[in-house]
Amino acid sequence: MLLRHSAIDAVDARVLLRTTLGVSDAHLIAHASDALAADHAEKFAALVARRAAGEPVAYLVGEREFYGRTFAVSPAVLIPRPETELLVELTLERLPRNEAKRVLDLGTGSGCIAISIALERHTAQLTATDKSAAALTLARQNAQQLGARNVAFKTGDWFDALHEDRGEKYDLIVSNPPYVAEGDAHLAQGDLRFEPASALSASLDGYACLNAIVDGARAHLNRGAWLLMEHGHDQAASCRNRLRAAGYAEVQSWRDLAGIERVSGGTFDDTRPVPVN
Ligand SMILES: C[S@@+](CC[C@H](N)C(=O)[O-])C[C@H]1O[C@@H](n2cnc3c(N)ncnc32)[C@H](O)[C@@H]1O
Repeated sequence: MLLRHSAIDAVDARVLLRTTLGVSDAHLIAHASDALAADHAEKFAALVARRAAGEPVAYLVGEREFYGRTFAVSPAVLIPRPETELLVELTLERLPRNEAKRVLDLGTGSGCIAISIALERHTAQLTATDKSAAALTLARQNAQQLGARNVAFKTGDWFDALHEDRGEKYDLIVSNPPYVAEGDAHLAQGDLRFEPASALSASLDGYACLNAIVDGARAHLNRGAWLLMEHGHDQAASCRNRLRAAGYAEVQSWRDLAGIERVSGGTFDDTRPVPVN
């Protein structure tokens, strides 16, 4: 079988061939010298052409690994990133096992954050929101496929999605919102060209969503509860400033495996005055 293709990387070619044939890596290795049937060769060539034109492998094969599980993805959602696993780890460190804590994931996309947390903490109650109905359809499918029964999905603009919650508060709010500045050159490069702009970029130099979440979360957090947000490689200091200015305590940032400050957060302290905007 053809595992090298001049137009694309050999690793991508292997993944696309595996998808074409619906087989495992082990099968590919064991049958490396088999000829491809004509219909498979045609399907494989079409996938290779799309990959050569830049389409992300995750969209071509319809899935991506995140926190040890396989999530279905489509062009309606951001492709889950390895660095986002830091948000899951930080959340799990703050969620004792066997307690019915309430966790809110804002901008859930494929559902990768909420579903990973839900599956690691079966007694927690997750609420996952997105303003994209198409993203929520996929997130619901992922929850069903992966057996996460403790996640409720809600559509809407950030905290507006919670209007039926009647003021119920959360023990932790987590979010990986859009944070790339509109017009940033990276949006016209690589996989980002194929991902939804609404999942990637935000106004105010990329801070509009981060700021909206910092400001809005206060009304939805229990006393001492954490807000944890992923942000861009150069946004940690500004996020910390915003969190402090909004009255959060224990404000800090955490580095990802590449050593980049990737997540910032703080705890809700209702003894501090609500800032006047
Ligand atoms: C960076 S993606 C993160 C997706 C997923 N949580 C992840 O980490 O892979 C941001 C998500 O926020 C959603 N989003 C953007 N603006 C929103 C808004 N105003 N209200 C709610 N969700 C929003 C997008 O549709 C997208 O799914």
